[in-house]
Amino acid sequence: MTFRILALGDVVGPDAVKRLCDELYSIRRDGNIDFVVCNGENAAASNGIDIRTANELIKYGVDCITLGNHTFKRREIREYLDETKNIVRPGNFPSEVSGMGYTILPENGVRVLIMNVLGVVYLEPLACPFRTVDKMLRAAQGKYDISVLDIHAEATSEKIAMSHYFDGRIDIIFGTHTHVQTADERVMPKGTGYITDLGMCGPDDSVLGIKKENIIEKMTMHTPVKFDFSDNPVTLHGAIFEYDTEKKRCVDVKRFEM
Ligand SMILES: [Fe+2]
Repeated sequence: MTFRILALGDVVGPDAVKRLCDELYSIRRDGNIDFVVCNGENAAASNGIDIRTANELIKYGVDCITLGNHTFKRREIREYLDETKNIVRPGNFPSEVSGMGYTILPENGVRVLIMNVLGVVYLEPLACPFRTVDKMLRAAQGKYDISVLDIHAEATSEKIAMSHYFDGRIDIIFGTHTHVQTADERVMPKGTGYITDLGMCGPDDSVLGIKKENIIEKMTMHTPVKFDFSDNPVTLHGAIFEYDTEKKRCVDVKRFEM
């Protein structure tokens, strides 16, 4: 049996949430998708994620939401992270903060382990992402069938180094955060399905989802500028990973754009 996982990149703003919710049912049906994971840390208006948006994504067919550096932008999300199994925040935040770095969700008799970690290159100096993921794998050992990791990181080098470090130990690894899809999707030598960045679910005609005029003003004038989400048409970016349950490995990765 093949188990198909659709991973979607950073969902940016309410327009992207709406398009995803409107179309996810048919995307799942037409693509024989068993499991959907998306990065939701920019999904709320003015980024972060709020409870209403998280509930909406889950209701319309997202099985698990991963997060990143904007996880705690909205205070209301703290309790929600403790109560909800379908959302994870980076595991290398201090253990005292709300939420978990991994979750295990059963789907069609398959137990899917979803892990989330933040890179530390050009981002906040959280705990070592390599060791954090090693720890999460140890904690979940024997409790899952397929493992998935979202590395929310700025530097391509950090994501690629982690893909080699975990090759053959994690089934599916993808990167998020840069909002730009990379063209390096592949099955790695020891069987891990990998892509450095899924890209963004948001308006391509923008700067990473923000109105281009705002960003150009900021970059040319160096004065404070209010950032608004672009209202240009939304494209959904991600990747589809095909996992063979007999061979117990990922056998195919394809980029997704719609
Ligand atoms: Fe981010």
